[in-house]
Amino acid sequence: MGTKTQLAELGLFDAKVPRYTSYPTAPHFTPDIDQNTFRQWISAIPDGAEISLYVHVPFCRRLCWFCACRTQGTQTDRPVEAYLKVLKAELAMLGETLPRGVRLSRLHWGGGTPTLLQPHMMTELAEAIAKIAPFGPNAEFSVEIDPNEVDGARLDALAAAGMNRASIGVQDFDDQIQQSIGRIQGYDVTRKAIDMIRTRGVQSLNADILFGLPHQTNAKITESVQKLLSLNPDRVALYGYAHVPWMAKRQQLIPSDALPTPQERLELFETARRLFLWDNYAEIGIDHFATKTDGLAIAQAEGRLKRNFQGYTDDTSEVLIGVGASSISRFPQGYAQNAPATSAHTAAIRDGRFSVSRGHVFGGDDKLRARLIEALMCDFRIDTAEISTQFQMSPSAVHALLSSTTAPFKSHVKLDKFGLFIPEKARPLTRIIARAFDAYDLSKAGHSSAI
Ligand SMILES: C[S@@+](CC[C@H](N)C(=O)[O-])C[C@H]1O[C@@H](n2cnc3c(N)ncnc32)[C@H](O)[C@@H]1O
Ligand code: SF4
Repeated sequence: MGTKTQLAELGLFDAKVPRYTSYPTAPHFTPDIDQNTFRQWISAIPDGAEISLYVHVPFCRRLCWFCACRTQGTQTDRPVEAYLKVLKAELAMLGETLPRGVRLSRLHWGGGTPTLLQPHMMTELAEAIAKIAPFGPNAEFSVEIDPNEVDGARLDALAAAGMNRASIGVQDFDDQIQQSIGRIQGYDVTRKAIDMIRTRGVQSLNADILFGLPHQTNAKITESVQKLLSLNPDRVALYGYAHVPWMAKRQQLIPSDALPTPQERLELFETARRLFLWDNYAEIGIDHFATKTDGLAIAQAEGRLKRNFQGYTDDTSEVLIGVGASSISRFPQGYAQNAPATSAHTAAIRDGRFSVSRGHVFGGDDKLRARLIEALMCDFRIDTAEISTQFQMSPSAVHALLSSTTAPFKSHVKLDKFGLFIPEKARPLTRIIARAFDAYDLSKAGHSSAI
C-alpha cells in the first residue's frame, strides 16, 4: 500500500478535522455560559494584568466566493456606523467591568474587513480601546487588511493608532484562479498596499495564501509563492482551501470539478512549503512560515509557541477578550462566545448586556487535553516530563495515555520514555493525531478516558 493510501485511510483527506484553535472547539460550546459568567471571569482578572483584545468587524465591500468567514456585504457606511456605535458601547461596558490597571499585550482587528472603516471611525475605535486598556510595553497591534479596500488615509489612521503588524489577504496571484474564486486582486494592487503599509513604518507584514484552489497546479502555486516572496512578508499563513458550500453558500459559485484531488492538495502544499524553506523561512506548526527573526519563529525555537483563535501566537496573556458579534473570549476558567448574529449582538448591547450566549467551562481533563493538542499543533511533540509536572501525573501514566491514544498511528509517530514525536513525513497527519486526544470528538462515541 502506498504512503498516500495509508494516509488517506487514517483520515488525512477528511475536510472536517478541526484546526484546533481552541479545545474544546467552538461547535462543542453550550448555552450554559452567559453574561453573568463572563462578568465573573472578567472580575477575576488580576489588577494590572496584561490581556489581549480581539475586535470583530463583520462587514465587507466585496463578498469573495471562496470565503467561509461569517461576514455581510455592504456598499454603504450606514450599518458600519451603527455597528461602530455598538462596539464603543460594548467597550465602555467592558471598561466598567475590567479590574484596574489592565493593559494590552495584543490587539487584533479582524473580520470581515476592518479596513472598510473610514479613517475617523478607525480613530474613534482606537480611542475607545485606549480608554479602557492602553497598550503594554511590548504590545502588538495587528489589523487584517484587504489590499482592495484600503488607502493612504486609512493606513495613516491605523499607523497613528499604533498598528505595528499588518495582515493582508492574498489567496493567489493567478488570474484564472482569482476569477474562479471570485476574488480579483492584481499583483500591483497587493504590491501597492504593501508599499503603503511599509512607508508608514509598520514593522511586520503577514500574508494569507491558499492551496487547494480550483485550477491550481504545482506550476501555478510556484509562481504565486515566488511573487509573494518578492514582497518579503515576515509571516505567511498557507491555509488549505476549505470547500464547505453547504455552510458557506457563496462557495456554490466555485467550480467544484476544477478543485484539485486530495493527493494533489498534498502536493500543492509540499510545493509551496519547499519554496518557503528554500527562501530560509522557518516552518511554524502546520500552516505558517516566518522569517527566522520573526516573533513566531523565535517563540517556536524557544518552545513558547501557542495556539489561539487567530492561529499561532507568541502572546503570553492568560486572557483574550473578544469584542463584537460572534467573537470568542478565552479565560483560565473557560470560553465565552458573543451572539453570532450582528442583530442579536446589537440588541444585547443596546440593552446594557454583554451578548455572550455560548461557551464552555473547563472541567475534567480539558486542560490536559488542550495542552496535549496544542503541543502537537505547535511543536509536533509532547514532552512527557512537562506534562507530568504541569498536570501532576506520573510519567508512566502520561506514557500510557500517549501510547493508547496514538495506537492507530503507531507506524507514523515516535513514542519513547521522553514523549511523543511526529516526524516530518507524518506531519500532514498532525490534526488527525491531535483529534485522537479530543474527548469531545463525536467520531469517538463511547470513548473512555485513559486517565
Ligand atoms: C477575514 S479573512 C481576510 C481579511 C480581509 N477581508 C481580506 O480578504 O483580505 C481571513 C482569511 O481567512 C482565509 N479564508 C477565508 N475563507 C477560507 C476558506 N474557505 N478556506 C481557507 N481559508 C479561508 C483567507 O486566507 C483570508 O485571507
Ligand atoms: S476574503 Fe475578506 S473580503 Fe473576501 S469575503 Fe472574506 S472577509 Fe470579506
